[in-house]
Amino acid sequence: MASTSFLFLYVLLMFSLAGMAISDLSDDFYDDVCPEALPTIKRVVEDAVRQERRMGASLLRLHFHDCFVNGCDASILLDQTATIDSEKTARANNNSVRGFEVIDKIKSEVDKVCGCPVVSCADILAVAARDSVVALHGPTWEVELGRRDSTTASRTTANNDLPTPVMDLPALIDNFKKQGLDEEDLVALSGGHTLGFAQCFTFRNRIYNDTNIDSTFASQRQENCPRSGGDSNLASLDPTPALFDSKYFSNLVSKKGLLHSDQALFSGGETDNLVKTYSTNLRTFSKDFAKSMIKMGNIKPLTGNQGQIRVNCRMVN
Ligand code: HEM
Ligand SMILES: *[C@@H]1O[C@H](CO)[C@@H](O)[C@H](O)[C@H]1NC(C)=O
Ligand SMILES: *[C@@H]1O[C@H](CO)[C@@H](O)[C@H](O)[C@H]1NC(C)=O
Repeated sequence: MASTSFLFLYVLLMFSLAGMAISDLSDDFYDDVCPEALPTIKRVVEDAVRQERRMGASLLRLHFHDCFVNGCDASILLDQTATIDSEKTARANNNSVRGFEVIDKIKSEVDKVCGCPVVSCADILAVAARDSVVALHGPTWEVELGRRDSTTASRTTANNDLPTPVMDLPALIDNFKKQGLDEEDLVALSGGHTLGFAQCFTFRNRIYNDTNIDSTFASQRQENCPRSGGDSNLASLDPTPALFDSKYFSNLVSKKGLLHSDQALFSGGETDNLVKTYSTNLRTFSKDFAKSMIKMGNIKPLTGNQGQIRVNCRMVN
């Protein structure tokens, strides 16, 4: 008895010494049941990114928008039905999130190679996000696995919990805090905007009305984003949208953030210093980004016998 509890205390101690979050997930979850699962996901992601580099950005964003709405449970993938309140038409998602076809392709190839549906759609989103970042020359990390898929979705929760581009720093900090993420996570994860594009309607107010913006940059962006019309015209979130680098942050330092919420991270508030650090230190940004991605991936996962392993990521079994 005594030795058992000593062992228990010892294990606890080791966990706290290592500074590890005690999570229900593990990085070797599929090693025995389907060792080909992860290489298959990587292959399909690489193919998709080779065809269209923006897809890497889109897949990264899908995982983020999944995790922020009731945890990383693939709820974002569920289509609207009589009983499913799809998140796909929530304000931040409608006509905006993309990559669902790639997730479908991954799911069908993974189920084929595994012989049966053992890999959850939520884990596929987490691994595809990592593989996307790697495909665009970003850092790698061990993805914690074993998430299960939800049987519900909530457009209302998506509307309430996903951050919006008009938010100022206090609202962004508060939004991330509700997910158990701190200011460092906020800044590091916002660095996801080193990849991909945004539509005119998401940054129009910033380029016409904000004062904390470089005026040359504002005029350039106005050329392809008129005061009215052209709502879906694209601009890259940083100058190198297909390369994971520190330009997102150096851009913020020169007041060239595209979204109001981007510039909020460097506008005289308490996150200025971290933005500055990341702007000249890709290694630090990369390390912190990887760490915060693991933390975000651990938001409220369904595990054990909760939820299910969906056969089709778009619908409950
Ligand atoms: C901090 C709060 C955030 C806000 C307000 C925000 C907002 C936005 C908006 C408005 C867009 C453009 C969508 C469109 O025009 O259709 C966008 C794109 C994007 N976001 Fe965020 N975002 C945030 C955080 C994040 C995080 C944490 C990640 C990932 C770690 C991320 C990854 C991306 C990517 C990769 C794109 C480009 C997607 C594409 O090109 O398909 N964002 N975000
Ligand atoms: C989503 O976008 C479509 C246009 O593609 C629009 O018809 C629909 O009303 C939008 N849904 C919501 C809930 O805003
Ligand atoms: C700029 O701000 C004014 C006053 O708040 C507003 O009426 C106008 O619609 C804004 N312009 C854009 C392009 O958002």
